[in-house]
Amino acid sequence: MKAAQQLMKVFVTRRIPKDGLQALSESGICNIQQWDSDEPVPKEELLKGVIGAHGLYCMLSDKIDHEVLQAAGPNLKVISTLSVGFDHLSIDEIKKRGIRVGYTPDVLTDATAELTVALLLATSRRLMEATEEVKNGGWTTWKPLWMCGYGLSGSTVGIVGLGRIGLAIAQRLKPFGVKKFVYTGRQPRPEAAAQIQGEYVPLNKLAEESDFVVISCSFSPETKDMCNADLFSKMKKTAIFINTSRGAVVNQDDLYQALSAGQIAAAGLDVTVPEPLPTDHPLLSLKNCVILPHIGSATYATRNTMSVLTANNLLAGLKGEQMPSELKL
Ligand code: NDP
Ligand code: DGY
Repeated sequence: MKAAQQLMKVFVTRRIPKDGLQALSESGICNIQQWDSDEPVPKEELLKGVIGAHGLYCMLSDKIDHEVLQAAGPNLKVISTLSVGFDHLSIDEIKKRGIRVGYTPDVLTDATAELTVALLLATSRRLMEATEEVKNGGWTTWKPLWMCGYGLSGSTVGIVGLGRIGLAIAQRLKPFGVKKFVYTGRQPRPEAAAQIQGEYVPLNKLAEESDFVVISCSFSPETKDMCNADLFSKMKKTAIFINTSRGAVVNQDDLYQALSAGQIAAAGLDVTVPEPLPTDHPLLSLKNCVILPHIGSATYATRNTMSVLTANNLLAGLKGEQMPSELKL
């Protein structure tokens, strides 16, 4: 066992699954300091915690910006995030400082795709509204025209971002009898598309043709507010809009207008701006909007695997070795 002063300081910004913490502690190379809470570390504690750190184990709610990097100082060699999304990291600043970044692609793809399908079905078949009616006495009898929604069979599904998760969503939806997949992105993805016989189309065409629009792209300045009044105006009145990527891809005021005016049928969101969404937010007043608290990857097994991968990325970075999942900067 090395003396404490020879160990490398690692700051962990949250309580994490025990296997992840164990991987760090059993490595014998780190002196772990942790914000041991289920709640995010306050900025001032983060600024204190990172001082002199060699490694930072963080998550998507921690904004790792110039101020944090300055506070950390020149020791900081590796940032490992418990997420596949990395829009909370100031990549340009990180790159300038030669810091390596680990993240968690692939291991959460299945869980997130599964949740997206659950959200899509809950939204299109009005499950939240329906269970509410059971509880409040609104269920008086079986009625032919009551609680009808939209089915996947024979539908066209549009995937915005046919990446790892986008493809996994499409693969899961296919057996429901989807007639056609269209997708969009910065360029065609022929290999992925071949697996679902998907057609590459511009975003506007996808909006016009799709019965279900599923957003699974990454967040960037380019995708910010991509789903706005203009896009909603091109969608079918019967269309279902689903977002499990990042909240800021959607202009929420425009979505509220589109949903309340009946311009589109319903929306299901796993991600919002801000998170948590204030409980008096207008979107929460709409029956045709289902909102989940960013639980895409939330299965016990997935979060455990993510925590270990995040630890292993960090340890490899600290040792100057190849990381299991390193973000190419
Ligand atoms: P990938 O990198 O595999 O996929 C990202 C996709 O975004 C690519 O298909 C890319 O397509 C597309 N994309 C990027 N820029 C644009 C653009 N300007 N217009 C349209 N499409 C674009 O990542 P993953 O599939 O693994 O993850 C996707 C995102 O899902 C993450 O970045 C994260 O934000 C979110 N996520 C949310 C979770 C949740 O809990 N709700 C869980 C996990 C992830 P192309 O390169 O062809 O443009
Ligand atoms: C991610 O990994 O980017 C998700 O949003 C949480 O798992």
